[in-house]
Amino acid sequence: MNIKGTDNFVRGRFQEDISEITANFTSSIDIDKKLAAFDIGGSIAHLCALERAGIVDNKEKKDIERALLKIKGEIESGKFVFNKKYEDIHMNIEKRLIELVPESGAKLHTGRSRNDQVSVDFRLYIKNEIKNIAGVLLDLEAELVKIAKSNIDTVIPGYTHFQHAQPVSLSHHVSAYYEMFLRDFKRLLNVYETVDVMTLGSGALAGVDFDIDRQMEADILGFGSISRNSMDAVSDRDFAIEFNFALSMIAMHLSRFCEELIIWNSSEFNFIELKDEFTTGSSIMPQKKNPDILELIRGKTGGIISNLLSLLIMMKALPLTYNRDMQEDKKPVMESADTIYDSLSIFKEIIKTVKFNKENMAKGLEDDFIYATDLATYLVKKGIPFRKSHEMTGRIVSYAENAGKKLSELSLKEYKETADVIEGDILDIFNPKTSLSSKKTVGGTAFKEVERVVKKYEREIVDNKKSVRAL
Ligand code: ARG
Repeated sequence: MNIKGTDNFVRGRFQEDISEITANFTSSIDIDKKLAAFDIGGSIAHLCALERAGIVDNKEKKDIERALLKIKGEIESGKFVFNKKYEDIHMNIEKRLIELVPESGAKLHTGRSRNDQVSVDFRLYIKNEIKNIAGVLLDLEAELVKIAKSNIDTVIPGYTHFQHAQPVSLSHHVSAYYEMFLRDFKRLLNVYETVDVMTLGSGALAGVDFDIDRQMEADILGFGSISRNSMDAVSDRDFAIEFNFALSMIAMHLSRFCEELIIWNSSEFNFIELKDEFTTGSSIMPQKKNPDILELIRGKTGGIISNLLSLLIMMKALPLTYNRDMQEDKKPVMESADTIYDSLSIFKEIIKTVKFNKENMAKGLEDDFIYATDLATYLVKKGIPFRKSHEMTGRIVSYAENAGKKLSELSLKEYKETADVIEGDILDIFNPKTSLSSKKTVGGTAFKEVERVVKKYEREIVDNKKSVRAL
């Protein structure tokens, strides 16, 4: 059979070829070439369905498959020539396929549209990214647990409103981030389910005319389910938006942690020391050891959140079904996925090597107003209702402040002036160990409780690693 065609095979109905300015403006190849391996995988699954439907015979199937794998090799080795004229990765690959196996290659796009093709490629890409990001997230979690495990009895000032509030275990503080990243991990697994839907067979919007075995395609590609509405399938980008939301949450948590470490690294706090290799010098001030990486991770968060907004805004006014606006979906997703992967990877290394200056942390507790809540509790234990004890403690704090004394420096006589129930054992409360040990609730900072929870984390990580492997 002699198939006549123009150089650009989707332009049969046009008299003129695409202009350079149009090609440059409409092409997405610079970005979506990252989908190449998934596009080829999707095409091979589709090819199997075409054979089963009797559209290609076994020889044609083998020829096409061989050619697709050859193209894959060309792309991987950098030999493949991408051409903006063929718009995107799908057509660049198909163009080359038809060059390699003209007659059979021209059959591959039967029963398929780029609309369902791009959806499946993008889903495969995101599934893969989720696996990678979830993996590095767990590696970071493992580092946090190591720190938590070895710092149960390191006590630091805990803050609210960025003011000394109550003493807490360093483990408890670090474990708070473990909890945030654990929610992020679970969120990623939830998103995975949303993404894990096979949309090939939806065609342009209406489904396809041939007997395409969609379940077979899903099985080959490893999808958990197949879409139920072809119109929704080709115009749905919820999965990409949800993924970017999950990434935004990770970015926000990372950014908070970075902010905290930047503060802890300041000369005012001096709670931590960052390894030289993760800091930079100043071009003018020789003494500087700047936490630039932490600042950059914090800085990149803005871009990631903007990418989520870009996607939402891109979609918000699109009528069913596919609209070309949707081509703009890849850049924000790919950019955010790369940034989060890189941020987590480098942050994990920083955390692994950070040194805690425990002496300076302990110094933070010398300001013993941090025990004011423990003083109020002491009064409650002596039978005074809390609201009253709070007020009495307030008066004691104010008295001490005016007298220029620390709470632990007040005499028993001075204490008794406000509350005669106070006895000599009052001095026991100005002690981090006493303060922490008495926080008895589940999820509190008592040493034993922190230890119990950290042990759970260790088991959790092993289980979660298994879940990632099973994806
Ligand atoms: N490059 C396009 C995209 O990423 C592929 C789908 C093109 N479909 C179309 N009807 N023009 O969205």
